[in-house]
Amino acid sequence: MLNFEFKNTTEILFGEGQSKLIAERLNSNDKILLLYGGGSIKKNGVYDDVVAALAGFEFVEFAGVEPNPTYETLSEALQVVKEQDINFILAVGGGSVIDGAKYIAAAAHYPGDGWDILVEGAEVTSALPIGAVLTLPATGSESNGNSVVTKKATQQKRAFGSPLVQPQFAVLDPTYTYSLPTRQVANGVVDAFVHVIEQYLTYPVNAPLQDRFAEGILSTLIEQGPQALSTPHDYAVRANIMWSATMALNGLIGKGVPQDWATHMIGHELTALYNLDHAQTLAIVLPALMFVKKEQKREKIMQLGRRVFALENADEEALIDATIKAVQDFFEQMGVKTRLSDYGLDSQAASEAAENLRRNDLHELGEHGDITPQVAQSILELAR
Ligand code: NZQ
Ligand code: ZN
Repeated sequence: MLNFEFKNTTEILFGEGQSKLIAERLNSNDKILLLYGGGSIKKNGVYDDVVAALAGFEFVEFAGVEPNPTYETLSEALQVVKEQDINFILAVGGGSVIDGAKYIAAAAHYPGDGWDILVEGAEVTSALPIGAVLTLPATGSESNGNSVVTKKATQQKRAFGSPLVQPQFAVLDPTYTYSLPTRQVANGVVDAFVHVIEQYLTYPVNAPLQDRFAEGILSTLIEQGPQALSTPHDYAVRANIMWSATMALNGLIGKGVPQDWATHMIGHELTALYNLDHAQTLAIVLPALMFVKKEQKREKIMQLGRRVFALENADEEALIDATIKAVQDFFEQMGVKTRLSDYGLDSQAASEAAENLRRNDLHELGEHGDITPQVAQSILELAR
């Protein structure tokens, strides 16, 4: 096992009605920015619950954070934070809103242009405190310190991470996810699944506990994901998916083991260029990446096949191929298509994404640092 440090500072408030606890987590003199997206929270009652929970507190609203939040929109919100002397951000929504809150929180205390934090690696030394009310289980953003922001002007989707922007608390009320469109339920399950894979499907380092945590989450998503599509108002199913998605990327399962993240980095370029949903890009990239990297990942691919998909092929090559197919079939079963052509894209997308990786100086992806833009291009060629 590799050395590690681990601390997760987010308090999880899990279950129906837990938004009532928000007030106890705030200070009476907080001036709050209530940050949300395109308005789904106004239709499903989440907005009403949150406003009720904020009774007696001073707050200002900023709506319109878009999926794949943009620097351009977040800069407008930052302006509000500065003009109104905001000292707490409450993000209500999916990963995009929570990631947006993290960017604003860091940029508010950064002396220059906040975009430097994403492209120059400028250090975050201070940030506004954040709380989150999660409405879409997927990214794990509610209990990690990561944020992904897109600059429309340059078609760059970049990430930063700091413990200083990790939410202090996160409300996880499964009933808030009943109103999700099917596409977003499916996206969430696929995203969480791939988060686990990025921290699991590398090479063995004799870390059986991490492996079994990962396999437990993958098995749960494979079992519960299709149920969320067929019985959308099943509380237990929604609760299981919500907790799985949080556990997939709250730092725990990746400690002490190598991590990959190439699927995500290649996928981010597809979103930046063609505005595909985050999970759609992952469903395209992962099966092809597994195929191209099957020699280096062979031990863990076989373990995945045997333990998670209960495959029993005696022949190792057949087992590996069957495991890759099982992953692809699961995404398709969830309704998330796995080929570039399914989204109207072709070889040009492969070369443009590779070019964007070069432009962003992403030359050494994967757990071995050997996925160059050229290899990424061949992965995407395979996913045509
Ligand atoms: O904008 P609203 O009206 O809220 O609608 C959203 C949006 O259109 C809708 N939605 C969310 N909750 C809903 C709902 N609709 C009905 N009922 C509800 N309860 O769903 C749409 C998508 O929302 P979004 O927040 O964009 O989705 P997601 O949570 O999948 O977040 C994706 C973003 O997170 C980043 C992605 O790159 C992408 O930008 N990621 C962040 C990570 C992190 N911080 O750790 C890791 C991930 O790998 C990922 O990269
Ligand atoms: Zn993701």
